[in-house]
Amino acid sequence: MINFKLTSEKLFEQKAKADCYVTFLESGFEFSKDLKEIEKKYFPNLEKYFELKSFKGDEKSSLLMHASDKKDILHMLFLGLGAASGDKRLQDESAKNKKNKTSKSAIESGSNKSDAIIDIENFRRALGVLIRVAEKNKFKDIVVNLPQAELFGVTEEFFAKQIAIILNMASYHFDCFITQDSCKFPQEYEINLLAEKSRISALKAGLHEGEVIGESVNIARHAIDLPAANMHPEELVNLAKAIAKENKLKITAFGEKEIIKMGMGGLEAVSKGSDRDCALVVMEYKTSKKNAPTLAFVGKGITFDSGGLSLKPANSMETMKEDMSGAAAVIAAMNAIAQLKPEVNIIAVAPISENLPSGKATKPGDIITFYNGKTAEVRNTDAEGRLILADALSYVEKTYKPDIIIDLATLTGACQYALGHFYCGMMSKDAALIAKVQKASDLSGDRVWNLPFHDDYKAAIRSSVADICNIGSPKYMAGTVTAGFFLANFVEHTPWLHLDIAGTAFDVPDMPYYRDGATGFGVRLILELVQNWDK
Ligand code: BES
Ligand code: ZN
Ligand code: ZN
Repeated sequence: MINFKLTSEKLFEQKAKADCYVTFLESGFEFSKDLKEIEKKYFPNLEKYFELKSFKGDEKSSLLMHASDKKDILHMLFLGLGAASGDKRLQDESAKNKKNKTSKSAIESGSNKSDAIIDIENFRRALGVLIRVAEKNKFKDIVVNLPQAELFGVTEEFFAKQIAIILNMASYHFDCFITQDSCKFPQEYEINLLAEKSRISALKAGLHEGEVIGESVNIARHAIDLPAANMHPEELVNLAKAIAKENKLKITAFGEKEIIKMGMGGLEAVSKGSDRDCALVVMEYKTSKKNAPTLAFVGKGITFDSGGLSLKPANSMETMKEDMSGAAAVIAAMNAIAQLKPEVNIIAVAPISENLPSGKATKPGDIITFYNGKTAEVRNTDAEGRLILADALSYVEKTYKPDIIIDLATLTGACQYALGHFYCGMMSKDAALIAKVQKASDLSGDRVWNLPFHDDYKAAIRSSVADICNIGSPKYMAGTVTAGFFLANFVEHTPWLHLDIAGTAFDVPDMPYYRDGATGFGVRLILELVQNWDK
């Protein structure tokens, strides 16, 4: 929990003394008037010290300084923002946001070299570094001298939203099973943000949005980080119910019996090996705006993926509690959606099951029939995500006739190999939807990479005994795309986009605002998309 205060006070002029004072500097910054003043008052030889420590304001760099007089010790943290980016997309976004003002340096009278802007992702990462330094040094009460939003080519509101999202995300720690206090990280901070008076009301609105989104990202992360022994299908359903109840959202949770009765052979087949029942959760948010479009989000909810009878090797199974990351993202996003009330209708659907082997489990070679009547040969029970998503996709299309459908799934190990951890795989045939998701991705920091989605890949999932086969023929390779084509069989008329989040959902390295474990990937993206749907 982060407690924010916004004031127009000047750095070091706060009434109460803080644990740490923070200033951001861009790559190659000039030793400005403000810095000279800081040097004169508190840190003699500051300029020399920057040189000595080779602190140049580069991305992810930081420099912590201490000064003491007879009364007190003062800590000052300088955070590097990196250099202006040549990214065309960012420049275009910036051009829209800039209102003919020239860009200023992070601390007022700095370089102002050109109109080029710094990627807001650099600022997000610097905020992550801020929390990492604070937790190491036990700083709780922090004063932050805010850079200008236009340095990043964004509005004040968006800027503040990023601050609240990232400080909440960076301070998250999955520590409920850690008994030694010394091994836990603090998750509560008092953050005093300093900005000119004219900026304060816009910043305030953004902070509120960001807090709601950041907390929702952390709800998803907590659900994902819980071990499979504590997060079975039933507990994930309960989380969705609790969110729905608190936010007065409509929710329907189908149990295994109903699922079988409805003909959802995919969910049934995956759940067979487990003693626990599967579920299908549907959450609904309705805007008061008339004639608003309906957007559907579907998330894969395998609370543990052992592979089933096509058992995974031990090391591949180590992280498989996280195979419900897509479901957690769509469920947690509804928490933020209900509070921020975008002007679109939203349906969140999560097919939820465990994938375990047993005497009752689905066997390789079995043929199953889905909700839409299509059949599939299950050659490999470890390709289970597509089986549960198949039923969920055709169910949501038929029942709600949404304007678009987007699914998020930790679907293929191949996607981790193809893209690593920094981009998820995006697949769609709808150019307009791709463009919208790309824009939401650029803004939110949940990064997507568009993969080829040509019908040439379709032949990979042919079967000689059923309509399709649940694994692609090795001849075709491209396991991420062929999995996408399996799903394509279950959306008939609706613009649809598939996100394979196997690489981005957990254990992303080098990102200062994440830790090991869940990232909550998708929550920020969904919120950015629905909040800007018509813009
Ligand atoms: N849940 C896995 C995919 C996965 C792998 C997610 C690694 C995150 C990290 C999925 O159910 C799976 O096992 N897919 C198989 C498909 C194969 C059998 C065609 C895979 O990727 O190996
Ligand atoms: Zn699997
Ligand atoms: Zn899986």
